[in-house]
Amino acid sequence: MTPPLRVAVVGCGNISGIYLKNLPTFKDIELVACADLEPTRAQEAARTHGIPKASSPQEILADDQVDLILNLTTPDAHASVALAALEAGKHVYNEKPLALELSDAQRMLELARAKGLRVGCAPDTFLGAGLQTCREILDSGIIGEPVATTAFMTVAGHESWHPNPAFYYQPGAGPMFDMGPYYLTALVSLLGPVRRVVGQARATFPERTITSQPRYGQKISVNTPTHVSGLFEFESGVQGSILTSFDIQATNLPWLEIYGSKGSLSLPDPNTFGGPVRLFKAAEKTWSEVLVRRPFGENSRGLGVADLAQAIRTGRPHRASGELAYHVLEVMHGFLESARQARHLEIQSRPSRPEALITAPATIGAL
Ligand SMILES: NC(=O)c1ccc[n+]([C@@H]2O[C@H](COP(=O)([O-])OP(=O)(O)OC[C@H]3O[C@@H](n4cnc5c(N)ncnc54)[C@H](O)[C@@H]3O)[C@@H](O)[C@H]2O)c1
Repeated sequence: MTPPLRVAVVGCGNISGIYLKNLPTFKDIELVACADLEPTRAQEAARTHGIPKASSPQEILADDQVDLILNLTTPDAHASVALAALEAGKHVYNEKPLALELSDAQRMLELARAKGLRVGCAPDTFLGAGLQTCREILDSGIIGEPVATTAFMTVAGHESWHPNPAFYYQPGAGPMFDMGPYYLTALVSLLGPVRRVVGQARATFPERTITSQPRYGQKISVNTPTHVSGLFEFESGVQGSILTSFDIQATNLPWLEIYGSKGSLSLPDPNTFGGPVRLFKAAEKTWSEVLVRRPFGENSRGLGVADLAQAIRTGRPHRASGELAYHVLEVMHGFLESARQARHLEIQSRPSRPEALITAPATIGAL
């Protein structure tokens, strides 16, 4: 086998900490450098996590000791950083969404194909213990034939905690592009691809006020819908509904549920790696909590990068793939575009359903 993949991080902001903590625990990865537009952020990350080099983004692109760029920049920079990485002959793994525009995402996949490189993309939470337990239950047929699914992500916005929250209210973010990837990636990994969508959207408040530090009191102008709901149909015929909102103060809704002909499955928050997983079997007429026995139940961000690195080393497909992320991006754009056009839209892409992380049963015997 080839040596571990040499990974450099570009974008050392809020989310980089958990990646930089977890990546050294995966044997297929060697963390060699980090970079940021703000050099002090890269230097601080290198110091804190013992990374050999803090470089500029340009130095990383030119560095032939780097095999893969982990792109943790803000969404507006995802495409330019990833395309530059691919041009420089490096594999790339983006934070979500894959890009703002479908055309950029398509260029990324085409360039990677032409150059024999790989594109991966967050989220990787669908590889965590909770959602992989759901995968095993679903594949076992315990809840019968899947009929429908619901997904709800409703919060009051991110300006109360994120130190630099303006990007959440610009195109490429909003609740659908920011949080939709967790919900839709989980559902597509469980139920296969989506074939058509219809959506409604509004930007309820034209301006938001930051209440976190250090920008307390600053105003954010809202340039993308903050309340988006949609109906969608999987290729299998399963019917889905989704609500994503930054405009809801409180709720009693579940995160994700899948309804089958013989029972129902209540899924964990897809922005986490663990449980709870709850199962309703029609024959028993009661809900019970399923013991989550699979690995990666803790915050394992970086698992998708590790899977990609191992896939490159062993020559197999990777799970958190650019094709899966492209499909999710097409579905999310579909909801917003359908809202503008007030009609159903067909989804063109058809990624294959990623393999389960570990196929050996861990749950079924215990049910
Ligand atoms: N913060 C979270 O909880 C969270 C969780 C999951 C995913 N994400 C995703 O992670 C990504 C980053 O989010 P964040 O919260 O860390 O943002 P952030 O603003 O805290 O950090 C982004 C960093 O990228 C740098 N950057 C921007 N453009 C760059 C470029 N062209 N070249 C090099 N560096 C550049 C910025 O200087 C900044 O340090 C986003 O895509 C977001 O959707 C964030």
